[in-house]
Amino acid sequence: MNEREPGIERLYPSIFGRMATRYYYLRQLRQAIEDVIRDFVAKSPRKLTLADYGCGNKPYEPLIAPFVEKYIGIDLPENKIADIHISPEGQIELPEKSLDVVLSTQALEHVVNPTEYLAEALRVLKDDGQLILSTHGYWMFHPDPTDFWRWTSTGLKKVVTDAGFEVVHFKGIIGRSAMGLQLFQDGITFGLPKYLRPVLAIIMQPLIILFDQVPSQGAKDKDACTYILVAKKRLK
Ligand SMILES: C[S@@+](CC[C@H](N)C(=O)[O-])C[C@H]1O[C@@H](n2cnc3c(N)ncnc32)[C@H](O)[C@@H]1O
Repeated sequence: MNEREPGIERLYPSIFGRMATRYYYLRQLRQAIEDVIRDFVAKSPRKLTLADYGCGNKPYEPLIAPFVEKYIGIDLPENKIADIHISPEGQIELPEKSLDVVLSTQALEHVVNPTEYLAEALRVLKDDGQLILSTHGYWMFHPDPTDFWRWTSTGLKKVVTDAGFEVVHFKGIIGRSAMGLQLFQDGITFGLPKYLRPVLAIIMQPLIILFDQVPSQGAKDKDACTYILVAKKRLK
């Protein structure tokens, strides 16, 4: 797997650390996940079982574990810390309608077949279950272990709706001008020696933060670095 940074660095990146070039993005993503967990998971009167589908090194487990009875990490066979590995056919070895929540963070752009991946999420969710999914709009190429897709807001809603879900919450994270600066930073960063990358980040990250404060009149939910959505199963 690529970029196996410790989960805690992804959750709480430092502007002086290894994840400095992702400082603002990772903080915004964590905040958005916290908001969704607060609004859609923490209030449930039931004891929930949640699967982190494409869990990587489980960076968001500490945010989620206090609000669920069971957290299960699912990933490809090469991920040794996953609790369940998907089969070569892409199936999750769980019975249908066995989960309350499927969480998918920054995985959809990496899966070979998003339609099959979402169909598996639908299959393992209970009828009143929820899919919480974040994935990239604009972002640089970053294989883990592969990198196939980028989404527009309408394209992402379509692929999730076509899979049998109803989108009930949809939010864009980091708008156009700030994201333009992030891509500009990344265009330069990887040509620099590693020790100079945090220096560039210390210049660029405050600019990215500043430009992301400009009011977008709703454009951020249409055109963003990353989208986060909550979807329910559409019952026939
Ligand atoms: C960029 S990582 C994201 C990891 C973690 N969710 C996070 O937010 O840091 C993408 C993950 O998706 C996993 N993945 C790729 N294809 C998958 C599939 N078909 N089913 C499940 N996981 C998959 C990869 O192995 C990798 O762990």
